[in-house]
Amino acid sequence: MSAIDLVGVRKQFGETQVVRGVDLAVPSGAFLSLLGPSGCGKTTLLRMLAGLETPSEGEIRIDGAVVNAVPPGARDIAMVFQSYALYPQMTVAQNIAYPLRKRGVPKGERAGRVAAVAEMLQLGPLLERKPRQLSGGQQQRVALGRALVREPRIFLLDEPLSNLDATLRSHMRAELIELHRRIGRTMVYVTHDQLEAMTMSTHIAVIDGGVVQQFGTPQQVYRRPVNRMVAGFIGTPAMAFVEGRVGEGGALTLAGTRVATVDAAPGATPVIGIRAEDVRLAEIGVPARVGLVEPIGHETLVRLHCDAGIVTARLPGDTAVQPGEQVHFTADAGRLHLFDPIGGERLTDPYQGNERDHG
Ligand SMILES: Nc1ncnc2c1ncn2[C@@H]1O[C@H](COP(=O)(O)OP(=O)(O)OP(=O)(O)O)[C@@H](O)[C@H]1O
Ligand SMILES: [Mg+2]
Repeated sequence: MSAIDLVGVRKQFGETQVVRGVDLAVPSGAFLSLLGPSGCGKTTLLRMLAGLETPSEGEIRIDGAVVNAVPPGARDIAMVFQSYALYPQMTVAQNIAYPLRKRGVPKGERAGRVAAVAEMLQLGPLLERKPRQLSGGQQQRVALGRALVREPRIFLLDEPLSNLDATLRSHMRAELIELHRRIGRTMVYVTHDQLEAMTMSTHIAVIDGGVVQQFGTPQQVYRRPVNRMVAGFIGTPAMAFVEGRVGEGGALTLAGTRVATVDAAPGATPVIGIRAEDVRLAEIGVPARVGLVEPIGHETLVRLHCDAGIVTARLPGDTAVQPGEQVHFTADAGRLHLFDPIGGERLTDPYQGNERDHG
């Protein structure tokens, strides 16, 4: 059963359509990331789940019951806001304990639970401070603590790690994954960081322009992006897009070199999407000139300029190539992604020969 269902949900502020018809079924116990660029409607969606905004149209259901008219306090949801609104007059300990106090949890038990959360979030030494005496990252951790201290049915987290430095962020990422595993509650996690979404989630909804572009497991959205937007948003370095041409007999060429055989009419010009890890240098292949070379230790990212565009290759760290050098590259036909040159949607059926690796 799904924990949360969004059915035809729309939201407009005045004339502005922000959420334009979202259908989502979030499985019970899922860690769902709402992933998308700034302004795409992630926070608005989350606020509707929390009951802080009312949908202009459509239905929100929690455990099967329509909650459109249920106030936030009656939804058994904890939310961590993007702007971690802490109570300024309360200490860190009091902020974290607040949801427990409101629910009448006895003082002794409160102290124990606050201490456990503070330890997990490395807030122990800060418990007696006021929010204004904390850095942004520390305040963010307190806000997280306040949500974690009671175990509600559903957690809503709006970019809760965005103010943390890289080390703490990766530590917190691991803690949240572990927490989710331990308590098994449904979590909806907003982020514009695709790496965060890929590493933490059981499910990802990629959102753009107020619409869910794709919903699936991290592997599904990575391996089989439904359109160029999703393909370009997921994966680092970003997928390269170059122009392909279909010739006689379905020969698909890239910069004049045959790279696959496809089931399409001569003259078609699909966009070919290539991930950096699928590119190899070879004796025979697409001719290209080496551009930027970025050694990052165990591997080297190399930009290859060919007549059809620029392709990035992720090569072994000891690859010795120099900018300006002429090389050839190849990529497995089965790992190419093909998109409609106009609408950008994935071309699946006419190109089945290319799909064998992507099931
Ligand atoms: N109360 C409001 N009144 C008018 N417009 C709003 C309101 N709240 C949000 N918007 C607009 O709706 C759009 C989506 O906002 P939202 O905060 O949901 O985006 P987001 O995906 O969370 O972005 P970010 O990653 O920057 O936080 C934005 O263009 C924003 O300006
Ligand atoms: Mg937001």
